[in-house]
Amino acid sequence: MKSRICGTGSMLPNRVVTNDDLSKIMDTSDEWIRSRTGICSRHLAVEESLTELAAQASRKALEEAGVKPEELDMILAATLSADKLLPCLSCELQRELGAVNAVAFDINAACSGFMFALQTADMYIKSGQCQRILVVGGEILSKLMDWNDRSTCVLFGDGAGAAVVRADEEYGILSSVQGSDGAKGDALLCEGRRNNNPYVSNSTDLPYVSMNGQEVYKFAVRTVPKAILEALQKADLTVEDVDLFVLHQANIRIIESVSKRLKVPMEKFPSNLEECGNISAGSVPILLDYVNQRGMLHKGDKIVLAGFGAGLTWGASVLTW
Ligand code: UT7
Repeated sequence: MKSRICGTGSMLPNRVVTNDDLSKIMDTSDEWIRSRTGICSRHLAVEESLTELAAQASRKALEEAGVKPEELDMILAATLSADKLLPCLSCELQRELGAVNAVAFDINAACSGFMFALQTADMYIKSGQCQRILVVGGEILSKLMDWNDRSTCVLFGDGAGAAVVRADEEYGILSSVQGSDGAKGDALLCEGRRNNNPYVSNSTDLPYVSMNGQEVYKFAVRTVPKAILEALQKADLTVEDVDLFVLHQANIRIIESVSKRLKVPMEKFPSNLEECGNISAGSVPILLDYVNQRGMLHKGDKIVLAGFGAGLTWGASVLTW
């Protein structure tokens, strides 16, 4: 049995913020951001909640899949920026969608989150425990940014993407690879709430994302091609067999480096980095929906999905569309 993606959806917040907009409020420039990352603008949530964005993305994915919310066995949401600590985003989505028969829980593997959620869904389907699973990745990272730290806040954006996965005899996920290296966790970090029981002298500092960009960059260009090759080998395929590589969108230079290392032309690496920036766990499902809605995926195509990020974590899957 395979796990087939049979519907996708995505939703971005209304507010578009360009590099020029940012250069009016901090010491940065369109030239720096564009040339170092490939990002030109990003969507930032002003009115929207993550639950709303994820619910709208999910409704689109369910509609394309022809699956009713009450037919879902499971909802898996990947995020590090849920609206609430409790309940989790998946349970909020269950309520919003009326997915009364689903079991719902979140997965936090940062920018690899959607890959880990998809791979978890695959295991539930392969084991026969579930038939239809909604997998969501989404973030409102702008609330975790230090807007005085130009080295991080210009990189990230907000949004959500969703995919409906169902059991299928023929099409679907062929192989997966996943990994983590907790020893390098400090490279991309956001502290949680501090201890604040009556016996602690509390600090009121708010935690924000901080990143050693160069370390994460080196990790990405080393690990992603390796993970993709491993996943392809497990599926008995080579890079030549792949029609499209849908990679986590962190930096166009990382994608170019992967393309070069795999000796695959950049045309096979679609990107929405220009308009979206890095949406962490939202990045892969939003890009997948982008290529799906533009008719770039055809039945039987071989697709590679890959993510990497904080943890450090990484994951790649090969599938037949
Ligand atoms: O999704 C999670 C995974 N995350 C990633 O994959 C991120 C990976 N890393 C990267 O994409 C890149 O390392 C960055 C885009 C984050 C940074 O690019 P870089 O080429 O490594 O730049 P840098 O950090 O070495 O900074 C170069 C210079 C510094 O100035 P000095 O010290 O050379 O004078 C920075 O202060 O650029 C300066 N700088 C900026 N200048 C204008 C840093 N941020 C900005 C900015 N605008 N926004």
